[in-house]
Amino acid sequence: MDNRSSHEIPGSVIAFTGQGGLPALRIESAASTAEIHLHGAHVTRFQKTGGEPLLFMSAASEFAPGKAIRGGVPIIFPWFGPREGLPAHGFARTTTWNPTGSEVLPDGSVRLRFRLPSEVSAVVEYTVTVGDSLTLELTVTNTGTADLTFENCLHTYFQVGDIRQTGITGLKGVRYLDKVAGTEPTESEETLRITAETDRVYQDTAATVDIVDPVLRRRIRVRKSGSLSTVVWNPWIDKSARMPDFGDDEYPHMLCVESGNVGPHAITLTPGAASSLVQEISSTPLD
Ligand code: BG6
Repeated sequence: MDNRSSHEIPGSVIAFTGQGGLPALRIESAASTAEIHLHGAHVTRFQKTGGEPLLFMSAASEFAPGKAIRGGVPIIFPWFGPREGLPAHGFARTTTWNPTGSEVLPDGSVRLRFRLPSEVSAVVEYTVTVGDSLTLELTVTNTGTADLTFENCLHTYFQVGDIRQTGITGLKGVRYLDKVAGTEPTESEETLRITAETDRVYQDTAATVDIVDPVLRRRIRVRKSGSLSTVVWNPWIDKSARMPDFGDDEYPHMLCVESGNVGPHAITLTPGAASSLVQEISSTPLD
């Protein structure tokens, strides 16, 4: 069965051959456009009509089976970070997901659903709503007979005009794991600024985070639910140079603010139980 046609909606959901020859969908909503590669159910573009793309995509990204796409919104599941002998950040981002439905909502937004052909005893569904904002919902239902423990994360790459001028608010007072320094301090800054390699897992926070970008003259708002971890990541100069699928000069133009449940916030579902992680991305012009 050609699973690229059953969910197409003329003028709203259009199947096309994406980068690297991978199957992809273009979404045209009343307020925005988006692209999703089925490889990873990966949102590779979200752009409000007349605006700059909200998501960063690396020009050096690979688009190939078994490789993670660098940019957009990688889905991290069922583990976060490295795991001995297994792919970093889990297998969801390198698996081809099945589209299971699409619809145009009364307000002109377009909603798509995907399902992960899973190796675990779970149904893993992803709902993407493309409108004036982009809403992503990852739902895991334990269909097995034993408890299911996993980490998840929507590893969103945002496009910023210049990271050195970008402010991040919403994390003051939150304890975080600093993966670069190996320490666990508490955020003291009202407005966090990135001035070096930054790789932090903010813990026990359900807070909304704003990215204030005076160069692109916009505020990106990251709202979430079902998430107690917020990851803030920028590889800066040396790590960028070590990453084969990321340009040496791209780090000033990206910032990851990731919503998930990692480390001490890993989720355990009893048989039959379900959990949902939601990230909503919106933007407004700066005055
Ligand atoms: C972040 C991690 O979420 O993802 C970083 O905190 C990691 O440690 C980054 O470097 C990118 O990971 P990957 O596997 O996509 O290169």
